[in-house]
Amino acid sequence: MARPKVSVIGAGQVGQMVAEHIAIKELADVYLFDVVDGAAKGKSLDIMEGLPHWHSDSFLEGYTIGPNGENYENLKNSDVIVITAGMARKPGMSRDDLLFKNVDIVKSAAENVKKYSPNSIIIVVTNPMDIMTYTAFRIINPNPKRIFGMGGTLDSGRFMTFVAKELGVSVEDVQAFVVGGHGDDMVPFVRYCSVGGIPITELLPKEKIDQIVARTRNGGGEIVQYLKTGSAYFAPGISTTIMVESVLKDKKRVITVPAYLSGEIGKHYGVEGFFVGVPVKIGKEGVEEIYKLNFTPEERKLWDISASHVKENVEKVNKYLNL
Ligand code: LAC
Repeated sequence: MARPKVSVIGAGQVGQMVAEHIAIKELADVYLFDVVDGAAKGKSLDIMEGLPHWHSDSFLEGYTIGPNGENYENLKNSDVIVITAGMARKPGMSRDDLLFKNVDIVKSAAENVKKYSPNSIIIVVTNPMDIMTYTAFRIINPNPKRIFGMGGTLDSGRFMTFVAKELGVSVEDVQAFVVGGHGDDMVPFVRYCSVGGIPITELLPKEKIDQIVARTRNGGGEIVQYLKTGSAYFAPGISTTIMVESVLKDKKRVITVPAYLSGEIGKHYGVEGFFVGVPVKIGKEGVEEIYKLNFTPEERKLWDISASHVKENVEKVNKYLNL
């Protein structure tokens, strides 16, 4: 049986990590695309040459995207397309500061996805993630189940890490998730965070939990401060890979992703026609189910702040792209 095909647009820090993880896990053959001459080719070859030691037969190929979109035709028949192309944050920048720089880049990638492989499952990683997912969605116009972003899974991983380290327990026994936009006002959902089934509110004092929530919200910024020249990519690479895996193996993982909210579920969340992070089931069809969270009034307030922030940016993009 042929291996599935995953295309990764953008062979920068995150793109290369996604390609490497997918290849090491032998989930698919991986095709990397980048505008920097030779970058995708060199990196795909480099990854592939290590695979004999991991016993993986994944095949990798890299393409330089030409000034007129040359080589994008190699996207065709992709099972999954991951869009990571764009600029990363530098110290002092918020994810929003990347908005207009990255809209143009994602728009061009999305136009080519639409042209060559519109039926793929599409995962958008470029920041600000909720808005870039929306941008790609508006251009490709796929079934909304088949496109989602990466944010919440990365943020949930940070939340789980900090809880596990605080309590000195295995990360395997921590359940936690972060909803809302993948921005400074994301909502780490304390009431649904548990350790071995025990709510963390019974294990940690409120001020400790507040510190963990604050650190989670600033998790991306903390790493940018250290790296200085860019943003996180190891955890983003892993978080994206588990989504690809859940699609390709039809695993039905329940994770948080920016998903398209509209209609009845949109009404529940107070969101119509754009993407915000919520718990979903990911399988071969993409977002196969969106779960309804019943908020307390306090949680609803936090959710509304985060969702309205995403909405403001959606409106900016609509204006910018004349949508
Ligand atoms: C972060 C970036 C990738 O949270 O948004 O690290």
